[in-house]
Amino acid sequence: MNKKFYITTPIYYPSGAAHIGHAYCTTLCDVMARYKRMRGYDTYFLTGTDEHGEKIQKNAALANKSPQEYVDEIASNFQKLWKEMYISNDDFIRTTQERHIKVVQDVFSKLLAKGDIYLGKYKGWYCTPCEAFWTDTQVGEDHLCPDCHRPVHTAEEEAYFYKANQYVPMLMDILNNNPKFVTPIERKNEMLNTFIKPGLDDLCVSRTSFNWGIPVKENPKHVVYVWLDALTNYISALGYDSNNDSLFQKYWQDPDTEIVHVIGADISRFHVIYWPMFLNSLGLRQPNRIIVHGLLMMKDGKMSKSKGNVISPYPLIERYGVDAVRYYLVREINFGSDGQFTPEQFVERINNDLANNIGNLLNRTVSMINKYFNGTIPSFESNVLPQDKPFEELINKTIQEYEISLDDIRPTSGFASVMEMLSYANKYIEETTPWVLSKENKVKELQSVMSHLAYAIFVGMILLKPVLVTKSELALSQLGLDYHNLNYEDIHNHNILNGAHVNKGEQLFPRLDSALEVDYIKSLMVK
Ligand code: MSP
Repeated sequence: MNKKFYITTPIYYPSGAAHIGHAYCTTLCDVMARYKRMRGYDTYFLTGTDEHGEKIQKNAALANKSPQEYVDEIASNFQKLWKEMYISNDDFIRTTQERHIKVVQDVFSKLLAKGDIYLGKYKGWYCTPCEAFWTDTQVGEDHLCPDCHRPVHTAEEEAYFYKANQYVPMLMDILNNNPKFVTPIERKNEMLNTFIKPGLDDLCVSRTSFNWGIPVKENPKHVVYVWLDALTNYISALGYDSNNDSLFQKYWQDPDTEIVHVIGADISRFHVIYWPMFLNSLGLRQPNRIIVHGLLMMKDGKMSKSKGNVISPYPLIERYGVDAVRYYLVREINFGSDGQFTPEQFVERINNDLANNIGNLLNRTVSMINKYFNGTIPSFESNVLPQDKPFEELINKTIQEYEISLDDIRPTSGFASVMEMLSYANKYIEETTPWVLSKENKVKELQSVMSHLAYAIFVGMILLKPVLVTKSELALSQLGLDYHNLNYEDIHNHNILNGAHVNKGEQLFPRLDSALEVDYIKSLMVK
C-alpha cells in the first residue's frame, strides 16, 4: 500500500518580515516531512502566505505601497528564508494567486447555494490584528480582544454569515470519536469550554468596509472574510475544484493519506471549529490531525515589531549555521508548550548537544580509529565488554522511541532520545577507557569500543538527518559512508561500517564561547 502524508504550516501574514516564530513552525513541519520521506511515505508539504485582509491593507498604506507591492515583497522574503533554512516544501501558496482566488469564490458560491451562508447585518466588535469578530461579552467592559488583548473597534456593516451552529453536533462527533484530532488535549478542551459549549454565533464571512480581499462573485462589494479565504489554501493548493485536481485526489480525498495541519495556539479556533465545518459543508473529508504548537516568546512576552523584540533567523543562520538553528528550534521548546527564546539557552543548547554530544564525540571517535586502527573501522562484535550490552540496548531503545515519537508527530521527544543516546556514547568512552585498552594491548576490546562508537554515531546521524540537513551527511562521510547509498533500514545493520575508512574532517560543531555569543545575540535583539 502506498502510504501518503500531507502536512501543512499555517499560511503566514506577510504583514512584517519573517521571524524566528514563523521559522519555528515551518521547521517543525519540515522535519516531519523529511522524516516521512525518509520512511518511504509519499509526502506533500505545503506552506505559503495569507495576503488579504484589513491589516495588510493598512500596513501597505503605512508603507506607502499598494497592497500587492507590499505583499510581493514580504512573500518573497518568506520564500528566501525557507530556502536558507533548507525547508523542503513542495509548494508555496499565495492567496493572491489566481488559482486560489477562483477556488475561494467557488467555495463561497457553493456554501451560498447550499444555504449555509446567508446575507445579514453585522454589528459587533472587530480585532484588526487578529482579523477576528467578537461579541460584547467576549470583549468585556475594557473592549479588548480576548486573544491578543489589544483594543477592538466597532464594526457595523452588511455581511454574509455562515450558519456555524447547525454543525456543532457534527463537530462534537469528530472531537469525541477522534481523540487525536486535536492535540495536545488541553487545546481541544479549551475550544470546547471557551467557544463550543457556550454556543456558537453564526460566523461573519464577508466584509464591505475595505476592499483588499477576494470579491464575492454574487455581490462584489463584499470581500470574503480573510479566514474563509485563508483556510481554503489547504485544498486550493492541491488543485481542488480545478481542471487538474490530481494532487487533491491523491493527498486529500484518498483515505490512505494522513493529513496533518500544524498550527500555533493563537489560531486554533479557526482550525478546530470552522475548518471542519467548512469541509463538511463542501462534502469533503476531514484532516486526521490538527497539531497545536506553543508560541516562542521573548522575555518581555510575545514577539512583535512594536515591542522591538523580534529576532530574525538570518544572522543566527549566518553565524551558527542552518543545522544549529533548526536543531535549537525543534529541540529546545517542548512541543505543545510555549517556550522562551533566550540567547543563553540558545548557546547552551548548541554547546551541550551539538558541540559536545556530536562534534566532540565524532572527533574523538575518528581520531581514535585513526590512531588505533589506521583509520579502518573494525568489525562489529556484540557483547565483548560488559559495557557493550547496555549500550546496544540503549541504541535499540532509542530507535524505537524515536519512531514512536515521530510517527505520533512529537518530534521534540524523538530528538531528545537520540541526543541522550549520543551523550551516553561519550560516557561509554569514559567507562571503557580505550587509551588503557590500547596500552594493555586488548585489541578485541578496543575493536569493540571503536565499532560500537562508530555504529552509535551512524544511527544518531541517520535519525537526526531530518533536522541536521547539512551536517549529518558530513558526519557520515567522516565515518567513510556516503549518505546517498544508505537506506533508513540500514540503522539495524551493525556491520554497515565494517572496514569503512574514516576521514577526519573539520570539527562539525565547534564549541561556542558563551559570553561572547550571548552578547552577540543580545545585540541582534536591540531595535
Ligand atoms: N494568516 C494566519 C494563518 C492562516 S492559516 C490558514 C496567521 N498568520 S500569522 O503569521 O500571524 O501566524 C501564523 C502562525 O505562525 C502561528 O499560528 C504560529 O504557528 C506561527 N507563529 C507566529 N508567531 C509565532 C511565535 N512567536 N512563536 C511560534 N510560532 C509563531 O495567523
